Amino acid sequence: MTDFLLLFLPEGSNGIVQIDGDKWREQRRFALHTLRDFGVGRPLMEQMITLEVTTLINHMEKSCVLGSKSLNLCPSIAVCVGNIINNMLFGLRFNQDNQIMHRLHRLLDDQSHTVMQPIMGAYIAFPLTTKVPLINKEWKHLMEIKKELLEFLDTQIEGHRMGWREEMVEEGEPEDLTYAYMIEVEKRKRAGEDVGFFDDQQLKMLLLDLFFAGMETTVTTLKWAFLLMAKNPEIQRKVQKELDSLSQPLIEMRHRTQLPYTQATINEIQRHANILPINLLRTVAEDIEIDGYGFRKGDLIIPQISILMNDPELFENPKEFRPERFLDESMNLKRIDEFLPFSIGRRQCLGESLARAELYLIFANLMHSFCFEVEEDVTTETTYIYLIVCSSIYIFYELHFKRRRLPKGPTPWLVAGNMPSFVNMTNVDDLFQSWKKQYGGIFTVWIGPIPLVMVLKGKRWAYD
Ligand code: HEM
Repeated sequence: MTDFLLLFLPEGSNGIVQIDGDKWREQRRFALHTLRDFGVGRPLMEQMITLEVTTLINHMEKSCVLGSKSLNLCPSIAVCVGNIINNMLFGLRFNQDNQIMHRLHRLLDDQSHTVMQPIMGAYIAFPLTTKVPLINKEWKHLMEIKKELLEFLDTQIEGHRMGWREEMVEEGEPEDLTYAYMIEVEKRKRAGEDVGFFDDQQLKMLLLDLFFAGMETTVTTLKWAFLLMAKNPEIQRKVQKELDSLSQPLIEMRHRTQLPYTQATINEIQRHANILPINLLRTVAEDIEIDGYGFRKGDLIIPQISILMNDPELFENPKEFRPERFLDESMNLKRIDEFLPFSIGRRQCLGESLARAELYLIFANLMHSFCFEVEEDVTTETTYIYLIVCSSIYIFYELHFKRRRLPKGPTPWLVAGNMPSFVNMTNVDDLFQSWKKQYGGIFTVWIGPIPLVMVLKGKRWAYD
């Protein structure tokens, strides 16, 4: 993954999502342990989330005088979720009117929108296009967004440097992940140990990855949640009936087992929204043969785990929004192994338990306090537009050579590879399903001149 991403990401191999090997192992372990120390998976996490949820409910009650005013939920949810992750990363909370938080939310939204622009395919395939005036307009915009996000992080890190006290190392109870990182480095130095892969640039990019992954995913899922509730009033009423049956002012984690329909609805929201329809890239670490296919070190692979959630053989009528599919005959929550919104394997979501608690507590408490309707007709159709390529010279013989050795797949175009197939797709899963039928569970898709092996079968691939 490294070489490919280095072209695309000028910050180099830092953070957590775009690194691999020993550095990834060390940094992932550090992040997981630190989040656990801050209460992830424990009652402290619930307290933190509940504080943000009750603040959000108060804000919504004030802003939304029943029947006379509509409220754009998205920025309010973003502040709520943003406060939870910001608190863990930097010990920072904003009130609902704070413009910094709204700006950060807009930047993250803008970034997600910009990376989905078709021209991005050209930048990945032909990095030189990022230098060509006019053609590089979206690239420059992306870099401006990133610059502003990094400036925010610089300010936080600088604030922590100013607040640093030598005694923090002995006290051993850091207030947030940024201090925990600084303490870890200092501890190693004092013990005369190697500081490993811990450095300033890595800290900044780790914070950026955790901030982005921890905020955008959860906020997007919650946006889908309330949109789907507004579009499905009967399901909304069923959830509310179940929540009312508890006769509790505040829904807590301990009520979860008493709320199977609510949990089934959250599962169905995640399945239906499928907010990461393409998994993260993996790179083959050494030449290897799996299931009769030969792969070389550096080949790019995507274990396409998320497609399972739209497979008609596993989920009948997958386009239908139906929480009941997650309930058995006795109306108890049913475990479905192929429901994997947080992926599986070593690269499985690092914030899964935090995200699950956030989705449950925010969704259940807001549904308990409000009814949701859409103000005007909103479509729930997702338009996935990935791709295409513009120009440049394609090395035909390389395409031909690689096609012979990699798994079969749809015939690529010169220059553009298979990217034209993605244009105007309403659902990228449909495309993958049709390729799966044609070529089986493993096939190669070309992003311009770059081959990606898509793996749509077998857990073993994800674990490896
Ligand atoms: C509803 C919310 C979320 C969803 C649906 C989600 C989903 C995912 C998925 C599917 C992956 C793995 C992709 C793959 O296998 O290719 C992933 C990775 C990751 N997630 Fe989440 N996530 C959510 C929330 C969070 C939160 C709250 C955090 C931070 C605390 C977080 C941090 C990460 C990180 C750091 C990775 C990369 C892990 C690695 O490469 O080792 N996520 N997420």
